[in-house]
Amino acid sequence: MSAGSRIIAMGHYQPARIVTNDALASTIDTNDAWIKDRVGIAERRIAETESVADMATYAAEKALADSGLSAADIDMVAVATCSSADRCPNVATRVAARLGITAPAAFDLNTACSGFSYALGTADHAIRAGAARNALVIGAEKLSDLTDWTDRTTAVLFGDGAGAAVVTGVADGEQAGIGPVLWGSTPDKGDALRIEGWRPYIQQEGQTVFRWATTALAPFALEACAKAGVDPSELAAFVPHQANTRIIDGIVKRLGLSPDAVVAKDLVESGNTSAASIPLALSKLLERGEVPSGAPVLLFGFGGGLTYAGQVVRVP
Ligand code: UT7
Repeated sequence: MSAGSRIIAMGHYQPARIVTNDALASTIDTNDAWIKDRVGIAERRIAETESVADMATYAAEKALADSGLSAADIDMVAVATCSSADRCPNVATRVAARLGITAPAAFDLNTACSGFSYALGTADHAIRAGAARNALVIGAEKLSDLTDWTDRTTAVLFGDGAGAAVVTGVADGEQAGIGPVLWGSTPDKGDALRIEGWRPYIQQEGQTVFRWATTALAPFALEACAKAGVDPSELAAFVPHQANTRIIDGIVKRLGLSPDAVVAKDLVESGNTSAASIPLALSKLLERGEVPSGAPVLLFGFGGGLTYAGQVVRVP
């Protein structure tokens, strides 16, 4: 049992291959100006040989190395993903085997793009309940496997990558570093984003998802702040799911952030990496020293399902 949990280290991994908008425009009817104007993406990373489990392992390895803990200390591995080619064994057990984590609770969780916040909330609850002491929470995606590269409405959007956090219980009297999760879904709009069947491609009604994201979500993001007892003006950074800069700007307008708050826009260089987008963006912000240690940061994921989840975290 613990009074709460906190993130003590993060890591990320992106494949080396960069695919620019111009490169896509050489094979499909699109162009750099449209993609930058309508979506905000300049380039994305596409995996060549790496699997979801490979990328999850590399990100987790960095986070673990940075945490001061060893593999023997980890008793839970949670992987948020919707794009693993293999259904069994799950990605979490593959990561555990490769990192020498011998007997963890190990599970994958699929709520598409909101997956990292769901997994972080689940790990926090497990630590509070005494069901785990130290957890690896990972978001990892290889969306390039699920992309129809002839469909310009989706091919320009997605990328591959992974981000990971090491989460541990706080000591008695110490402030919890992961605020209560606000999570939910809008199932009646579930068909607006689909990855169906055995050889699936991502299909989405872009405008339906766009309208939902820009009209329905800001109140939930504000509720996540209220649950944590943090006024949005106190946030040092906002790290939303990285789908579209126009969606991010639309939500930001309604949050009342301080003008100094950092708003993550990692999609410019990474594309939309679904469940990996939040830990990837946050890990990169921390690596660049853009958010001070201990500062409150709002994470907020949304996407397929249509699901959403967010929480305020104090960064390591
Ligand atoms: O991560 C999971 C959650 N997903 C999201 O949050 C995605 C939400 N949706 C969006 O971000 C946007 O709806 C998109 C980026 C997917 C699309 O942007 P849009 O401004 O909604 O474009 P649209 O679908 O309304 O299309 C506008 C025009 C169309 O041409 P016409 O019919 O006006 O002549 C499309 O055919 O843009 C055309 N178009 C393109 N043009 C150049 C669509 N895709 C492209 C493209 N390049 N890649």
